[in-house]
Parts: sequence; structure tokens; C-alpha cells
Amino acid sequence: MLINQNARCKILPVASGKGGVGKSVLVANLGISLASFGQRTILVDLDLGGSNLHTYLGLKNRNIGLGNLLTDKSISFRDVKMRTPYPNLDFVPGDVLVTGVANITYSKKRSIISNLTKLDADYILIDLGSGSHVSTLDFFLMSNSGILVTTPQPPSILNAYGFLKNVVFRLLQQTFNNHKGVTRLLGTILREAKPNSTPSINQIVDAIEKISKKAARTAREAIEQLRPSIIVSMGDRPEDMQIVQSLRTLIEQNLSVDPICLGFLYYDYIVREAVADTVPLALVGRDSLILKGIDRVAQKIVHSERFPEMPLDLEEYEDSFELTQIEAEDDYRDVNPHPHTRADQSPDEASAEEFMRLITAQKQQINELQGTVRMLTMQGRDEPW
Ligand SMILES: Nc1ncnc2c1ncn2[C@@H]1O[C@H](COP(=O)(O)OP(=O)(O)OP(=O)(O)O)[C@@H](O)[C@H]1O
Ligand SMILES: [Mg+2]
Repeated sequence: MLINQNARCKILPVASGKGGVGKSVLVANLGISLASFGQRTILVDLDLGGSNLHTYLGLKNRNIGLGNLLTDKSISFRDVKMRTPYPNLDFVPGDVLVTGVANITYSKKRSIISNLTKLDADYILIDLGSGSHVSTLDFFLMSNSGILVTTPQPPSILNAYGFLKNVVFRLLQQTFNNHKGVTRLLGTILREAKPNSTPSINQIVDAIEKISKKAARTAREAIEQLRPSIIVSMGDRPEDMQIVQSLRTLIEQNLSVDPICLGFLYYDYIVREAVADTVPLALVGRDSLILKGIDRVAQKIVHSERFPEMPLDLEEYEDSFELTQIEAEDDYRDVNPHPHTRADQSPDEASAEEFMRLITAQKQQINELQGTVRMLTMQGRDEPW
């Protein structure tokens, strides 16, 4: 596992627990943005079986990619890396031209990882498939600070938590590959796991401690190195950050992982228009809120020489989550300069019926939010293994 803060070329795999949350849109446009800041960037489509990153870059699917590399011995990794129309931005396509390579063997997975870690660039952004397939977990663990994308919807938040829990479990499996006792323990946990009664990571580390104090120390050190960042996608309003804070609490308490929050991207119709026309968002949505959000993420990365360590102004805000909250509020004000005008009107001015609808909708939202926060703070729910 590459420790990004110590590395010159930073590897940023982008994953999500749930599909369709906006990973590929983010990867394509974050790549374009990093490159526009003069950073040598390589985008890699590692969503084998669902490769579509080229469409978000406005490229045709004519180029050979990882699928060809995996099936044709005469093709080398160098052959599949291509230039894009954007200065500083290279691209490694996925498997659109070849079918049936989604389930790769262990040795092919190792070979891809080894080739990717040898690439020369400032940033390598990797678009992954959604969910906790073991290859996805291994690709996510290529560096200690991958990006986890989630929408503020409860299923997406819960799946993000489940994904990260699987990442930590996989990290333990990798760490104790050569330790028979711990490997046996992890195997038993995996076999006996039932949907509603899986042990927390802290309980697993306690069980490791019973086998060996030294191994438990090693486990804690390995977990401590993980610094994933969260990006919220398709946000609706700044209040969405409350559920993200609940996700953070869950991650900190149950996984002993200290995540950072890298940004909040609003839902923006311009994305769908760009996708429908297969043109990159960067070309059609220059002034859009989503590109502003993505550019801000790029700036945070570029200005953090030891990313994921960020030089935060702690006199202005407490941490990366509060900073993101402030940014989400600023953006919201930009597009809704008078957000309370409608609610502040008396029923005489607005129609009484509309006023009641507004109040009911607000109450419902508050109830949903409370229910979600309650649900998220209950331990051990909905864990995927
Ligand atoms: N911020 C956004 N606002 C509006 N629509 C969005 C936004 N981000 C993504 N979308 C739309 O959501 C759809 C899914 O986006 P995308 O393909 O990036 O998700 P994904 O997480 O990569 O999905 P998969 O898991 O299938 O790879 C796309 O059609 C895209 O147009
Ligand atoms: Mg995708």
C-alpha cells in the first residue's frame, strides 16, 4: 500500500458502495481539472465489466485498453496508455472492446497493480466499479487514501460504510497473509458472518490480541495508516452534510479510521445534458456549480503537498468536514440568494395550499433525517459480510 503523503506520484482510487453515485463523472472532470492546473495526470478505467470513463471524457471507444492487455499477450501496458485532447492528461481505457474480463485472476490483478504503481505522473486517478468485489478492495488499497463517493441518500451512506468496513477487513487479510493464526481467525469470521451479527473491526482487533499482542499492534498500525476521503455527490442542500457527519462518526467509532471530507458536489442537470451529448462537462458547464465543486477538490489536492494531509486554516473551521459544510452553504447561497423567501411569506401572499405543502414537506424531511441519523448510529446494522 502506497502512503500517499510520502509519495511524489499520488494514487487516488475512486470507489463507492453503491453504483451510479457519480464516480466516473467525478474522475473524468477531476482529471481534467488537475491537468488544467499543470499536474501530469493519468486516468485509469478499472471498472472492468462496466467501463465507460471514455464517454465522460468525450472519447470514442475505439482504443485498446486493459481488457486487451488482459487477453492478448502481445500487448504491453505501454500500448494501452493514450494521450487525450487535454494537455497533461493521459488515459488508460478499460475493457469496452473486450467482454468477459471482469473476474480477473490473482496474478493478472497483481500485474495491473504493479504496472500502475510504475507509472510516472503527479496523480493517478482510478475509476473503480461499485461495491466490495475483492479486486475492487485490492485496487482501492493500492494507496492509503482512496476517495469514497456517496450521495446523501441513506442507502448510499450505509453502503459507503459497508464498503469501508470491507476495505479494513481486506487490509487485515493482506497484513496477516503470512500469519497462520490471524489468517485462520479472519477466515472463520468470514465464514460465520451473518448479516446482522458481524463483529465490529474493534472486536476483531481484540480477538487478534488474544492470539498475539504484537499482531494486534500491527493491526492497529495498519488501520491507522488508512486516510480515505469522502466526496458527497448529487447533494441537494447543505443540510445533507448532517448525514455525512453521522457516517464519519460511524467510521471513526466502529472502524477506528479517521476519514477526511474532500468536497460536496450538488446535483446539477448540466451533467445529464453533457452525458446525453457525449461532451465533457468541462466544455459545456464552465460556470456550473458542479465544476466549481470539482475544481475546488482539485485545488485542495494540489495545494496539499502531503495529501491527504491538508493545510487547513483551523482558526476558521474545525476540520475538513466543517470546511466542506461551509463550502456547501456558500454554493447553496450562490444559486438560492433568498432561500427563505417562500417560507417567510404569509399564507395570504402565497396560496394557503402551497404553504401547507411546504410545511408538510419540511416536517417529513426532518423526520427522515432524524430516522436516518438514528439508524446510522445503531451499531452493526446492514454489514455486508
Ligand atoms: N452531480 C450530478 N448531478 C446530476 N447528475 C449526475 C451527477 N453526477 C452524476 N450524474 C449522473 O448520474 C449518472 C451516473 O453517474 P456515473 O456514471 O458517474 O456514476 P458511477 O458511480 O460511475 O456509476 P457506476 O457505479 O455504474 O460506475 C450519470 O448518468 C450522470 O449523468
Ligand atoms: Mg462509473
